[in-house]
Amino acid sequence: MPHKIGVIGFGNIAKAIITPLLDKNFLEPEEIVCLVNTKESYENLKTHYKHKIKILYSSSPDINLVWNCPIKILSVKPQQLKDIKEFSSNQFKKDILISILAGVSLKKLSVKFPNHNCVRVVTNIPITIGKGLTGISWSHEIEDRNKIFIKNIFENSSKVFEFSEEYLDIFLALTSSSPAIIALIIEALGDGGLSGGLSKRLSEELVIEMILGTVLMLKDSSFSTSDLKNTVTSPGGTTIAALRILEKKGLRSALIESIMEAMNKSKEFG
Ligand SMILES: NC(=O)c1ccc[n+]([C@@H]2O[C@H](COP(=O)([O-])OP(=O)(O)OC[C@H]3O[C@@H](n4cnc5c(N)ncnc54)[C@H](OP(=O)(O)O)[C@@H]3O)[C@@H](O)[C@H]2O)c1
Repeated sequence: MPHKIGVIGFGNIAKAIITPLLDKNFLEPEEIVCLVNTKESYENLKTHYKHKIKILYSSSPDINLVWNCPIKILSVKPQQLKDIKEFSSNQFKKDILISILAGVSLKKLSVKFPNHNCVRVVTNIPITIGKGLTGISWSHEIEDRNKIFIKNIFENSSKVFEFSEEYLDIFLALTSSSPAIIALIIEALGDGGLSGGLSKRLSEELVIEMILGTVLMLKDSSFSTSDLKNTVTSPGGTTIAALRILEKKGLRSALIESIMEAMNKSKEFG
């Protein structure tokens, strides 16, 4: 069976995308070939990766096996992009290259990979537990049947949204950067519990369960965010006392500005 998907860079995010495809038999191991940089990562994957896929490293003699695949997923760090050299085996037909690099525009990709039709994908860290969010922007040349196949790849580990590229930076800020914001909020609320005399561990456990319950209420019921806030805020009570402090300290505007800053940073990279 010829390799179908070549993965350039097989780190945390690429594994999160590929592993469920193999677990669910969406692809056979023989259809995947992966390229990593170092012999150390190669040996490590050979020994520990649960699926027996073809793995190569930068000095392997047959790295053209990756470039011969009709679909490639590019998953190196943005600063490693300069080391990736396009190799094209087909002069008559352009292959597809799907980049998941944060902030690298379709225009930049098409200059770096002129023999490929490029797709830009933004995904987020919960993809590693199959709960990701993925935004996709297509270059004009991608055919509908390929779009369906590519969307299926990401739907195995995330919810997929299609955007024109101008919205990918705000999508990235809101979904890819925000897990760090949420982690920081959980940590800070946990410190609140700690200040009140609970252990750090119990505080964070309570905060995480509280957030899960709150999010499920918002997701599964007709409660809006304002409905929920009004329901738990009684006159002269504890919640309005807490909210008053957050308004005074500017939490709401700090969060809005943080998203705008992440979006602008992503635009700068592009
Ligand atoms: N982390 C996140 O939250 C997140 C979320 C969404 C998207 N992303 C994007 O996902 C991409 C990958 O992130 P990651 O966290 O998965 O990175 P990672 O774990 O560091 O994986 C990078 C992979 O690229 C390989 N590599 C480096 N240079 C190479 C070269 N010259 N040729 C072939 N392979 C090479 C590395 O091999 P070695 O191990 O041998 O060095 C490694 O397998 C990034 O561009 C990032 O923007 C990240």
